Amino acid sequence: MAEPARAPHLGEPLASLSADALAEAVAWHDHAYFVLDAPVIPDQLYDQMVERLRAIAPGHPVLKQVGGGFAGPGAKVEHAEAMLSLGKCYSGDELAAWLRGAYRESGRADDADHIERVTLVATPKVDGLACTIRYDAHGLLVQSATRGDGRRGEDITHNVRRMPSVPGQLAGRVETPDGPRAVPALEVRGEVYLPLSAFEAVADVYANARNLAAGTLKAKEEGGVPAEQLVFFAYDLRTDDEAFAPDTEHERLALLEALGFLPVPADRCRLAEASAVYERWQQARPELDYELDGVVFKLDDLAEQRRLGTTAHHPRYAIAWKFQGDSGTTTLQDIEWSVSRTGTITPVAIVAPVVLSGATVTRATLHNVSRFEELGLHRGDTLALTRRGGVIPHVETNLGGGGAAFAVPETLPGTTLATERRVSERKVAGEVVVTTTLHLRDPDASPVVQRARLVHFADAMEIDGLGAKMVDLLLEHGLVRQPADLYELTPDQLAKLPRVGVVLANKLVAGIRGRSEVPIALFLRALGIDGLGAHAATLLAARFDLDGLLQAELDALTALHSLGDKTARGVLEGLREREEMITALRKHLRIVDAKADGQGEGVDADAPFAGETVCFTGALETLTRRDAQQVVSRLGGRASSSVTKETSLVVVGGDPETDKPSSKLKKARKLREAGEAVTIISEHAFRARAGLDAG
Ligand code: IVH
Repeated sequence: MAEPARAPHLGEPLASLSADALAEAVAWHDHAYFVLDAPVIPDQLYDQMVERLRAIAPGHPVLKQVGGGFAGPGAKVEHAEAMLSLGKCYSGDELAAWLRGAYRESGRADDADHIERVTLVATPKVDGLACTIRYDAHGLLVQSATRGDGRRGEDITHNVRRMPSVPGQLAGRVETPDGPRAVPALEVRGEVYLPLSAFEAVADVYANARNLAAGTLKAKEEGGVPAEQLVFFAYDLRTDDEAFAPDTEHERLALLEALGFLPVPADRCRLAEASAVYERWQQARPELDYELDGVVFKLDDLAEQRRLGTTAHHPRYAIAWKFQGDSGTTTLQDIEWSVSRTGTITPVAIVAPVVLSGATVTRATLHNVSRFEELGLHRGDTLALTRRGGVIPHVETNLGGGGAAFAVPETLPGTTLATERRVSERKVAGEVVVTTTLHLRDPDASPVVQRARLVHFADAMEIDGLGAKMVDLLLEHGLVRQPADLYELTPDQLAKLPRVGVVLANKLVAGIRGRSEVPIALFLRALGIDGLGAHAATLLAARFDLDGLLQAELDALTALHSLGDKTARGVLEGLREREEMITALRKHLRIVDAKADGQGEGVDADAPFAGETVCFTGALETLTRRDAQQVVSRLGGRASSSVTKETSLVVVGGDPETDKPSSKLKKARKLREAGEAVTIISEHAFRARAGLDAG
């Protein structure tokens, strides 16, 4: 649990405190004691505070709550001002009509010049949960609530306090363009979301990231994902202090940033540029670590905003221009059972082409057998599809109507290879989720798996000349079955193969044998175990030698800070499956453990970027590239300037406006598609992981 922020008036003599100051302190310690379960002062001192308050202000409302009366998780919270909804539109014409409508009252709706000159602020409409956070005059976070029905929300203070993007304590003064200002009591509103990179691991269990974020925020105890993974995008700041209040929307966002919040990214534009801004956001969707379902346009001028006011439902000075066609229906034509290099078989829905978010979709993963069976699929069924985050096709529901039922195959279609079901348990959101997956009973016997393992091995070991084509040739002629067989190859054997001359044969054998001494991290990666990419391999290498790892229990692996439970299980299972392969390889290879070669020295396996090779791309908004790279090395990782197979983490610069994905980002995506364990995150997610935003 996060450290509670600094207690108010701590150290000041009780006798010097006003009733309100005392009340504030008492409320704060109530919260620390009852909600956070982390009292910071001895009980006697707390009792003295209550007694003193009772003496000078016997009727004070806080006294009625003393002893757990704090609203507490889930309690209803009345909003000072209603949290409204947004009007919406679906085209540039409708946007123009809204803006003209907004000026109709002042008689300027048809004054084209004026309408064209109006400054708008455009921000992504983030698909998360609206939330409000109150700070008192001392800058202390006092309460946070969900939107609820708009008038009353739910108390989520305990979870919001844990979010790295929410300061627990504001500075007393803040720099503004008009000089330093004292920070008054204020309310900040914004959107809470769960980064898609965090959602990925549980995408088969939860309908969407938003639901999981909601579950996490409202959980009374541990629930959902750890609240630390949530991110708060601030878009509104309210205060009664007129001197502090900004004059424009863009100044408001700058002020939020100066206060230590993460403001929602914004562009200033005029009506004529609005379509281009909208398009840019739509195109940026695949790169972003959050889902957005449109772009919010607001008048920049806050005096105008006040003049226009709100309806009971939404402000008149803002509108959401929504993206279209994220979901649609199509017909299920077939199920493909797709085999990975580890022998895991994943059902994929093959559907009649349907255009969603501007791209034609013909296939959607069904994740696993559990999800496949849950959907109860038949040939010809109508499926409702969405693209999560506007990107990844996802089958939401089966609307039925088809004929013959699809079944889980007992042999891999088109082969005689037997399949088997495996039931596994994992903890998601504090609950045990049981998942059935399908696997080849004997992956080693599958040519698909054999080929994939060999190709991966040659690739990871960087054996010159041994690409997919050569592997196919070797398999075809029965020269190899598994990686260890490569080391038995002779130039004579190879030279007899079609299109392989003596020169190439010698070169290949030299390339293979040249790799007879390998660092353990490289060896582990070359085994081709799901989840065991550069990051996990380096982490494991820093802790274990090979024998130690082969004998390790799950606990020893999950104890490594940044190795998830799922990865740890996958690694152990993968190692068990490859016992024979490992034993055979050890006859030919000397595996050097990290301590022996000095690699592991100074690697703290628990550091936030331990074992990560991190590459930055795009313009960073909040850090210079050099500073960011230093953060990485300080926190256990290695910064590199290019994306390679070693890269485990790519941080994409904060400006999603960047017209085209950079070549580094494209490369990272390709690697990911090819099954490399590359994670792509936003600058915001990077800051959160590095703990840069912690209060
Ligand atoms: S402006 C009256 N800006 O959308 C509230 N809202 O439909 C206007 N939302 O629950 C707030 N992204 O939390 C604004 N960039 C953004 C937003 C945004 C998401 C949510 C908001 C509210 C809903 C209104």
